[in-house]
Amino acid sequence: MTDPGERLRSSLAADHSSSSSSAADFDSPIAMEALRATRVLHAADQDPFPAPSRIRVITIANQKGGVGKTTSTVNLGVALALYGLRTLVIDLDPQGNTSTALGVEHTVGTPSVYDALVGDNSLAEVVHPTTASPKLLCVPATIDLAGAEIELVSVVAREHRLRRAIETYVHELPAEQRPHYVLIDCPPSLGLLTLNALVAGDEVLIPIQCEYYALEGLGQLLNNIDLVRQHLNPGLSVRTILLTMYDGRTKLADQVADEVRKHFGDLVLPAVIPRNVRVSEAPGYGQSVLTYDPGSRGSTSYVEAARQLAERGVDLPPLERSGMAGVAAAPPVAQHSVSTRESS
Ligand SMILES: Nc1ncnc2c1ncn2[C@@H]1O[C@H](COP(=O)(O)OP(=O)(O)O)[C@@H](O)[C@H]1O
Ligand SMILES: [Mg+2]
Repeated sequence: MTDPGERLRSSLAADHSSSSSSAADFDSPIAMEALRATRVLHAADQDPFPAPSRIRVITIANQKGGVGKTTSTVNLGVALALYGLRTLVIDLDPQGNTSTALGVEHTVGTPSVYDALVGDNSLAEVVHPTTASPKLLCVPATIDLAGAEIELVSVVAREHRLRRAIETYVHELPAEQRPHYVLIDCPPSLGLLTLNALVAGDEVLIPIQCEYYALEGLGQLLNNIDLVRQHLNPGLSVRTILLTMYDGRTKLADQVADEVRKHFGDLVLPAVIPRNVRVSEAPGYGQSVLTYDPGSRGSTSYVEAARQLAERGVDLPPLERSGMAGVAAAPPVAQHSVSTRESS
């Protein structure tokens, strides 16, 4: 197999037992680099993901810290974009880890989600490009956001700030520039920021870590989602559960995964994200694992999860209520023309 694209595809398709097995095929740094470049540049041309039947605004929530919310937001976002779908990632955690992993500046003073939530800026004014893909945009979070929970208390319609901002943003974009996906990364709490994200989203994706106490606190999150559905956002539903940090060497991981599947059935994506050191290294380089080490198991599993997420989005039920109902149909992805059209 000499064609790098071919080798890449098979490396992505293969179920590697370790990240080093793909590295063995590409043992020189230049070959690895070429592999990554091929992967980044041609993913959409090879096998684009299907576009959703309407814009999907997905809130990635779990009030537990360290379960993989940020990692999943970043890597699903990059996967969707690399495979042809315009994606907007909104960082709603004052720590700004999503912004870091997407290589987006988030020092104090950078136009950020804070300016749209608490200030008068539109989302369009605080959207930044990312290095991962021209199809992936990011609204970063600066540390200013830490004060937003308190500052928002006195703001009119405070729970609806993010939803309004997203609706206005989408309405004002020409159809061909509208995102197919909006992913919102929540902070590890159930405060006003997460509430804004739950009101803004049409669906919730809950990452669950395959560890002890994985289900602890989940009841509280589900109750909150129910309350939001009853009072603020009737269209909201939990549509996806993603199992993260699965360690195949432990019985515990299997037990947790079984338990979660028993509880949530088909909501759980078949793809499981393994614990993989490349996933945790990537943010240190301002990257997703897909661009940092595309052949790693972390990368291939996030691509798989994103593909399953996208496939479930092709025939979604219409929203009960949406300010975006009239603009919901994002144009389909044109095979083979996506990357050139976007990057020009
Ligand atoms: N699949 C994985 N394999 C290894 N480390 C991971 C994986 N997913 C997340 N991590 C690491 O675990 C930590 C917590 O993940 P993060 O996505 O920041 O969680 P959250 O946003 O829910 O707090 C981070 O240091 C991250 O790099
Ligand atoms: Mg996080």
